[in-house]
Amino acid sequence: MTLPIADTGADAGPKTYLSGVQPSGLQHLGNYFGAIRQHIELPAREPAEHFYFIADYHALTTSRDRDELRNRVRETAITYLALGLDPKLATLFRQSDVPEVQEITWLLATTGGLGLLERAVSFKEKVERGLKPNIGLFLYPVLMAADILAYDSTLVPVGADQVQHIEIAQDLAASFNSVYGEVFRRPSALLSKEHSKVPGLDGQKMSKSYGNSLWIFESGKPLAKAIGKIATDSRPPEEAKDPAGLLLFDFLALFLAPSELEDWRERVRRGGVGAPGYGHLKQRLIAAVEERFAPARARRAELLADPAEVDRILEQGARKARARAVATRDRAFRACGLR
Ligand code: ADP
Ligand code: TRP
Repeated sequence: MTLPIADTGADAGPKTYLSGVQPSGLQHLGNYFGAIRQHIELPAREPAEHFYFIADYHALTTSRDRDELRNRVRETAITYLALGLDPKLATLFRQSDVPEVQEITWLLATTGGLGLLERAVSFKEKVERGLKPNIGLFLYPVLMAADILAYDSTLVPVGADQVQHIEIAQDLAASFNSVYGEVFRRPSALLSKEHSKVPGLDGQKMSKSYGNSLWIFESGKPLAKAIGKIATDSRPPEEAKDPAGLLLFDFLALFLAPSELEDWRERVRRGGVGAPGYGHLKQRLIAAVEERFAPARARRAELLADPAEVDRILEQGARKARARAVATRDRAFRACGLR
């Protein structure tokens, strides 16, 4: 399957894909269709180096509960592996297993202009939402730039909300390079155009913070209950309706093959005797979600029962990632006179 992707133009030379994910624990369909699926399918489709890491250093800017953080990091790793990330095709690791990113963060901070961070939109938004900012939250984009530059990444698949952070990484690399020579490669954002906004059960954007999520691994009664909540209206099945205006069809479109989807649309458009009602469509959606994620649910159960396997994959990933970051750190240290 090809995902339509807008490439903003990386430098020439071998490609390296890299992205970081926040360890936010259980993930919903918006996270899956908007981000995770792209991360998992890219390595299978694009022969290149692929790095994915769980951004636990970044999580500390807001996390205060050590057990919760540990669980969320594990749950995030398991989610990716269960959904099909192949550790042979993509290096999966924990950010904090590569402490060299902190050294690179400092170097970038010494040549980057303060204005870059003062203009960072995501910091301003968090503060406006009432988050009391710590120093780490302000430095967040510098650490993110170090994450990207440490692995000589050229392409960074992210959502639109992260694009400014990639631009900051480009500027920080350019500032360092303009003082010390060509140390860091120039990265570009890679934006998925598909499913950039999956709706929630209430029709707003699906988000963990809105209580309108459908969780990827949900099944059985809780799944049926969640899908039961998808907002509908009181029009009877016989009444002809425009499927484009029905939230249920936004969900069905995520799961059904185009021909089947069109068939349901046509029946709803026509109305009359035998036209499917909302309950009927919800049953089809439940079955489709159950089926789509059944293999991932089974794999998740296996991984939950085998923590050593998850540790082994993360450790192996860290070794590979770290070797790259050490080389970049050494190059940067030599360039600025620390070695
Ligand atoms: P949430 O809003 O639930 O806290 P995050 O902000 O942690 O989600 O997002 C993690 C990733 O999932 C990001 O790449 C984001 O773009 C993507 N994402 C989150 N919600 C949606 C959605 N409703 N539709 C599409 N993508 C989404
Ligand atoms: N800030 C990103 C997010 O919230 C996570 C992240 C951290 C990241 N470091 C990164 C993404 C480096 C891409 C590259 O989603």
